[in-house]
Formats: sequence, C-alpha cells, structure tokens
Amino acid sequence: MNRHRVHELPTIHFVTGNKAKFREATRIAKEFGLRLSFEDLELDEPQSDSIEYVARTTALLAFQIIKQPLFVEDAGLFIDSLHGFPGVYSSYVYSSIGVPGLLKLMSGISDRRAMFKSCVALCSSSTLSGPKLFIGEVEGSISKLAKGEGGFGFDPVFVPSGISRTFAQLSIMEKNRLSHRSRAVRALCSFVLKNRRIVE
Ligand code: IMP
Repeated sequence: MNRHRVHELPTIHFVTGNKAKFREATRIAKEFGLRLSFEDLELDEPQSDSIEYVARTTALLAFQIIKQPLFVEDAGLFIDSLHGFPGVYSSYVYSSIGVPGLLKLMSGISDRRAMFKSCVALCSSSTLSGPKLFIGEVEGSISKLAKGEGGFGFDPVFVPSGISRTFAQLSIMEKNRLSHRSRAVRALCSFVLKNRRIVE
C-alpha cells in the first residue's frame, strides 16, 4: 500500500449556493490541510425557527444525493432590539428588503447590538445518529450607513465588536479571524482532523 495515501484526507463537499461562503471556508480548511469542493445542489431550505434544524435537515437531504462526506452551513443575523429578527429569516429579508431596508428598520433605534450565528452540519456514513453540528458566533453592531465593497449579504452594515470597520471593509483573511462562519468551520476542521474515519 502507498504509505502516503494512508494519511491523505478525502475532499469534503461543502453544499452551498453561495460562492462567497465557499471562498471563506476554503481558506480556513486550507490552514488545516483539508480540501473542500463546491456543491450547489439547490435544495429547498426547510422552514424552522432554528438555524440548527435548518442545517441538520439540509445536510441529511444533501447526503441522500451525494452519499459522501459533506457539510452545509446555515447562518443568520440576530438583532437585539428587534428581538433576534431577522434570524432564521435573514436570507428572505436580504433578498426582499436588503441592506437599505434593514437600515430603515433600524432608523431611530439607538441599541444597535447584533450577532451573527453560524451552524455547520457535517454528515457522512459515520454520522448515522445524525449530523454533527458546529456553532460559531460573533457579536457586534449594525452601523448607521452601509460601508465597504467586500463580502456579501449584510456585511456592509455589520461591525464586529472591537473593530471600527464593517465586515465588508475587511479582507477575507481579516473577516476569517473573527467571523461566526470561521469559528464554526474551524471547529469542524479540528474535529475532522481528530476523527479522520468520519470522512474516510
Ligand atoms: P444563509 O441562509 O446561511 O445563506 O444566510 C442567510 C442570510 O444571512 C444570507 O442571505 C445573508 O444575507 C446573511 N448572512 C449570513 N452570513 C453572512 C455573512 O457572513 N455576512 C453577511 N451576511 C451574512
């Protein structure tokens, strides 16, 4: 047997329609020596009030099709003064009213604290008791104006705590130092390296 192949890790499929998410996750996976492949399956997103449920259910649906080690990620923006809205509805809110609509909703509100939360769900033939979940969060606030050209979604109005720039004003590397997604994907990668048989 080729001794090098024994230690070679298989590619993990990242099922997402979002290339920006894929770029962010790929950078992190690379730090761990892992390779990701982009899989856009266009699955219907289940309706639920929990991103964990959405991630878990979508991972199971994707596994029925791909039948190889994969993960999905579901994320949301939770605004304190709006009682966690848009949360699981972030995708709908983004595509309907977008960043300008969110800023309008927040006009006159002085408490602008918010959090991004990400849930990664890993599924393989070894996770039969259910997908393994990894959560990442980042606290921050909603800016009064949209700033920056980078990133996607609500990046132009999210200012992570301790930084005076929005996510859209950061490079991928900078965003990856503190984002919700980077935290969840790092947890996934550490887990995979410690439990290689799950992706073999
Ligand atoms: P999804 O369902 O995981 O794709 O995320 C729902 C929505 O949350 C997306 O359409 C984006 O508008 C927003 N979102 C999620 N993650 C991010 C991020 O890292 N930056 C900015 N917006 C995000």
